Amino acid sequence: MTASATSDIIARAVEVLKENDQGAYTIPTKGLYPFQWNWDSCLTALGLAHYDEARAWTEIETLFAHQWPDGMVPHIVFHVWSDGYFPGPEVWQTGRPTATSGITQPAVAGFAVRRLFDRARDKKLAAERARALLPKIDAWHRWFYENRDPGGEGLVAIIHPWESGRDNSIDWDDAFERVPTEGVEPYTRRDTLHADPAHRPTQQQYDRYIWLLQHFRGLGWDNARLHDASPFQVVDPGFNAILIRASTDLADLAQALGETGIASANRARAEKGLAAMERLWSEAHGQYLCLDRVTGKLIDSASVGGILPAFAAIPGARTAALAATVERLAGRAGYVVPSHDPDDPRFDAKRYWRGPVWLVVNYMISDGLADAGHNDAARRITQSSLNLIRESGFAEYYDPLTGDPLGGGRFTWTAAMVIEFLREAPLLPSPLVGEGGSAR
Ligand code: GLC
Repeated sequence: MTASATSDIIARAVEVLKENDQGAYTIPTKGLYPFQWNWDSCLTALGLAHYDEARAWTEIETLFAHQWPDGMVPHIVFHVWSDGYFPGPEVWQTGRPTATSGITQPAVAGFAVRRLFDRARDKKLAAERARALLPKIDAWHRWFYENRDPGGEGLVAIIHPWESGRDNSIDWDDAFERVPTEGVEPYTRRDTLHADPAHRPTQQQYDRYIWLLQHFRGLGWDNARLHDASPFQVVDPGFNAILIRASTDLADLAQALGETGIASANRARAEKGLAAMERLWSEAHGQYLCLDRVTGKLIDSASVGGILPAFAAIPGARTAALAATVERLAGRAGYVVPSHDPDDPRFDAKRYWRGPVWLVVNYMISDGLADAGHNDAARRITQSSLNLIRESGFAEYYDPLTGDPLGGGRFTWTAAMVIEFLREAPLLPSPLVGEGGSAR
């Protein structure tokens, strides 16, 4: 790829970001997702910073303006009315001044804010904006350990698959069997209007999503009660790794800004979490697995959630094993990292989180692998990601066997991640960097 091809891709990515920019927040894509999503926004901010740093900070600030008084940051903020998405505010009924959902999403904000700060061209602006966000992100982290780790184990549980961000993963199937479907109020799905039903969750899964929502709503969205009252409590290694990485990043940032209390609290959370992660390791799979907190057993499902811990400072031997797992998967799928191991009979190359590749997940895994010196595996992921963009555009996700684009199109965080991948010029194989040009 020549330097001009690289700048052309970046220009196209910026176009997607601008198209989905609502002024103070971005939507993931038009139609399918017409509101602000939590981890989408935080990762998108990294792409926005490429051309407008102030706007990037605003993206995260808007999300945190809707933080709940208990510290939770909701997974969706319904800034505007739209009938294009189900379940909307009338189903969640969380009673917030601006409607939000009642569950959360992966805590990537601490990582994103630190990265924005480290790279900032305008250091004064960055220090001001970061300083204001620090206590809010810290409150969210505290909320997690208080409400989702009531036993003080060091690892937090999700209580709804949508919290994981990997909504329809095979990881949830067994635990999901415990979730009833009786009493689900009649509803009409909207996702299948925008995307191929064969790529989306099944009706029975959807009923269970809604049952959990109604159950939590019946408990008044009181987070002090929801964890124990949920028949679905799963400790996801990827989710925890993101929270651990964010805690470490927030600690470093707080230290740099002289907020020593926030720094030490977050460092302690990360240390405890890292030690507890060992319980989720599977030697047989060469990766981490989810733990079903209700049964106390590991879930035999080799998903990308168990590779994502490369993003956190796990022991070197674990990162090396994860790098080897990525290389093995590269031998099985044309494009890494598939959201599920293709050797598992339950793998589905086209269905939501049951096989396809997401670039955000790729970004976090490759970032961690590169940090730990596993440059070949990291480069393989970067290369796959850029090939997908060149061949299939800015899709929501991709078939790991054929590279076909799937789900929504012109997707915001995919565009943001492409800009990020192209920043990492030193990692890219030579053809991607044009003669005499940089990859940026
Ligand atoms: C889907 C994804 C989730 C994402 C959202 C918006 O629900 O599973 O991770 O945040 O779409 O892109």
